[in-house]
Amino acid sequence: MNSNKPEYLIYFTLFHFLCCVNGFVWNGDTFRRKVSLEMNPGLTPPSVAPPGVSMLHTRALSHNDTLHFLFCSGGAPALLLIHTNSSESEVHVNWTKFLSTDPTGSVKVEPESSVQHRGALVFTNSVLSPYRLHEFEWDDVNKTVDYTHHTAQLCGRHASFSSNASLCLHFSAYDCSGREEAWPSLLHHANSSQLRVVLKGVMPRTNQSHFTLELQTVNEAGLLTQVDVHRSIDDEYTPSIFQVSEWVWPHDNSSSTVGFFQWKPVVYQKSLPAIEDATPCINSEPVTLPQAPPSRIIPAYFNQHHFTHGLNITFNVTSELTPNSTQYLSWTMLAGIGTPPSDFFSSLVIAIMAVGLGTPLILLAAGGVYICVWKRKRDTLGHYEPINQG
Ligand SMILES: *[C@@H]1O[C@H](CO)[C@@H](O)[C@H](O)[C@H]1NC(C)=O
Ligand SMILES: *[C@@H]1O[C@H](CO)[C@@H](O)[C@H](O)[C@H]1NC(C)=O
Ligand SMILES: *[C@@H]1O[C@H](CO)[C@@H](O)[C@H](O)[C@H]1NC(C)=O
Ligand SMILES: *[C@@H]1O[C@H](CO)[C@@H](O)[C@H](O)[C@H]1NC(C)=O
Ligand SMILES: *[C@@H]1O[C@H](CO)[C@@H](O)[C@H](O)[C@H]1NC(C)=O
Ligand SMILES: *[C@@H]1O[C@H](CO)[C@@H](O)[C@H](O)[C@H]1NC(C)=O
Ligand SMILES: *[C@@H]1O[C@H](CO)[C@@H](O)[C@H](O)[C@H]1NC(C)=O
Ligand SMILES: *[C@@H]1O[C@H](CO)[C@@H](O)[C@H](O)[C@H]1NC(C)=O
Ligand SMILES: *[C@@H]1O[C@H](CO)[C@@H](O)[C@H](O)[C@H]1NC(C)=O
Ligand SMILES: *[C@@H]1O[C@H](CO)[C@@H](O)[C@H](O)[C@H]1NC(C)=O
Ligand SMILES: *[C@@H]1O[C@H](CO)[C@@H](O)[C@H](O)[C@H]1NC(C)=O
Repeated sequence: MNSNKPEYLIYFTLFHFLCCVNGFVWNGDTFRRKVSLEMNPGLTPPSVAPPGVSMLHTRALSHNDTLHFLFCSGGAPALLLIHTNSSESEVHVNWTKFLSTDPTGSVKVEPESSVQHRGALVFTNSVLSPYRLHEFEWDDVNKTVDYTHHTAQLCGRHASFSSNASLCLHFSAYDCSGREEAWPSLLHHANSSQLRVVLKGVMPRTNQSHFTLELQTVNEAGLLTQVDVHRSIDDEYTPSIFQVSEWVWPHDNSSSTVGFFQWKPVVYQKSLPAIEDATPCINSEPVTLPQAPPSRIIPAYFNQHHFTHGLNITFNVTSELTPNSTQYLSWTMLAGIGTPPSDFFSSLVIAIMAVGLGTPLILLAAGGVYICVWKRKRDTLGHYEPINQG
């Protein structure tokens, strides 16, 4: 038993070393896409979209596939994700029909046969005292689009809000993997985009209500949906948070996923938060809903056979949202296709592990060499002695 110990230690160290290398390789993910943004695709002047209706098209192109993100207002705000296996797929909008009372079938991604996955995320309700987001007045996204950094903002107000209160969705698309500086500093990759929900200046009508955000998703297959929670020992990028939640769509019978939404269960109460400005949030289990969400893009793009699921994210801010409060909340999520990015260990933890585990390895190796040399020397001596004697 005792003699196996060094061997076990070596394997243990080697295993951790390999994990570290794997982590480095992941963080050095080199997959890139060419990202471009286009406002209201196919709507040519002098035609303009009416107030409150806008569609920001993000095309994220690789050499053999395309990811289309459609970030839309017009009813409840929505983000559509469409993955095609062609680098030439295009979004076509019949604006006449899209803006009519029956927008059915007015948005298409062609060629239709290239579509591998389509899904939508819709922000339906904000329950503080309930606010239905499709009843909000939404600003023109066009003014906020940053074509260089691939970002845009959609801000809206409820009729009962005070003049400086707003709910904004900050959209970011990415051409490669990385992470934003602002907490929670989610790791993103080229197959994902980020939405940050920011609520400013909204006073609760009572101090009893929790702030809840209802999310609904739409997809064409009745895929099983679930929220998985992954734990980590590392909080370098999101201080005090050791968890990440993933709402995933698995392939039939397989462990791979076709699409995902990912977030950390934390909400910040300041735009430049300190650790004490972070409070937890929890999500309910996804449920199947009988009706599609009230967003114009849903009937416009999805055919008759689609499925809706929903869940609530509840922020633990009951006592904090007093008149004295910061009147600020921000919560961030990532949406994408394929596998969600996963934090392995950060460089800090890797460095600690390298020192903690590398030192014994070096000592072991040095010890081993010493023993070998010593044994050899002794053997050599032992070998010579009889000769001398003889
Ligand atoms: C696209 O190219 C990559 C390799 O660059 C390959 O792994 C992948 O299967 C290709 N995808 C399609 C849809 O052809
Ligand atoms: C757009 O939709 C309208 C109304 O359904 C239809 O009359 C028109 O032909 C369509 N335009 C195109 C280019 O398909
Ligand atoms: C794209 O996917 C469709 C099926 O979804 C398939 O028929 C077609 O061959 C694929 N095209 C390429 C270029 O891989
Ligand atoms: C967006 O705004 C720019 C000016 O800032 C204007 O030239 C352009 O026509 C607008 N586009 C749309 C689709 O409204
Ligand atoms: C992104 O998607 C493409 C195409 O499906 C795939 O080849 C690539 O590995 C994915 N990248 C990441 C970082 O998941
Ligand atoms: C909103 O305006 C009120 C007074 O008009 C002010 O007291 C409050 O601090 C403002 N809130 C924010 C978030 O700017
Ligand atoms: C909060 O609720 C408690 C108990 O319902 C009440 O006593 C208190 O006055 C309320 N505070 C505010 C600011 O509404
Ligand atoms: C999934 O597995 C079940 C049984 O395990 C099988 O009956 C079904 O055909 C499988 N579906 C697919 C799409 O492979
Ligand atoms: C979210 O919470 C509200 C208020 O509690 C509830 O009416 C609604 O059904 C919930 N939605 C989901 C998808 O659970
Ligand atoms: C919400 O916050 C209160 C006090 O800060 C704490 O006691 C409670 O456990 C928290 N609830 C959740 C779900 O985190
Ligand atoms: C409100 O804020 C002021 C100044 O920051 C502080 O002195 C006071 O104690 C706070 N009141 C409550 C109830 O937190």
